[in-house]
Amino acid sequence: MHQDNFIPFEYTPKTEKEMLADSKEFLDLMKKRRTVRQISSKPLPDGLLENIILAAGTAPSGANKQPWFFAVVKDPALKKQIREQSEEYEIVNYREKYSEEWKRDIQFTGTDHVKEFIEKAPALIIVFKQRFGLENGSRTRHYYISESVGIAMGMLFTAIHNAGLVTVPYTPMPRAFLGDLLERGEHESAVLVLPVGYPEEDAVVPAKTTKSLEEIMKIY
Ligand SMILES: Cc1cc2nc3c(=O)[nH]c(=O)nc-3n(C[C@H](O)[C@H](O)[C@H](O)COP(=O)(O)O)c2cc1C
Repeated sequence: MHQDNFIPFEYTPKTEKEMLADSKEFLDLMKKRRTVRQISSKPLPDGLLENIILAAGTAPSGANKQPWFFAVVKDPALKKQIREQSEEYEIVNYREKYSEEWKRDIQFTGTDHVKEFIEKAPALIIVFKQRFGLENGSRTRHYYISESVGIAMGMLFTAIHNAGLVTVPYTPMPRAFLGDLLERGEHESAVLVLPVGYPEEDAVVPAKTTKSLEEIMKIY
């Protein structure tokens, strides 16, 4: 088990009391996370997105291949282009492609084909998953890609919230145009667009319920 590359694990012990208090504090913080669709154009402090993305980059991944890439779009012309292309697709999606059931299911969110948040938010984080790696021009295998990127995205959401910012996970359909526009290689495909910023002062969110512990957990 022990190999040359192993280093001591840095562990900060907590008392049981501290563990309970810290986990409750974290739970209270997470309860306040919401998807916010009204994002202000207020600029972000320098270095904030970098910390947030570095936090997501600490995620575990299959064979530590870290099969993710985070494109940060701040350029107004690029944001406009992404908004326009997304809306063009969404108009057709809402008219012809989305099922009645889907439209009924998302009605409570107030979501429609208008994607103002893409252009207004000071930055978009576009998450890409890498089907394979590229090292010195040759392909390397990636493993458990969806699982790894999903975990990194969870950590990204948490870091955004912890920093005092909000986001709305947006999944343009189709999404391939994002890789083309940002000139990402054929090994990468866009997973999620996250407009990030401060909430508008008058921002509202739909009321929602969260499943109870009994519904999501059973001790065996
Ligand atoms: C993978 C994923 C895709 C989503 N896509 C959209 C979207 O395209 N537009 C939108 O307004 N909300 C989108 N949402 C946000 C969900 O509607 C929201 O997370 C859900 O209603 C729960 O609300 P909360 O995030 O405020 O807890 C998405 C969420 C996830 C996890």
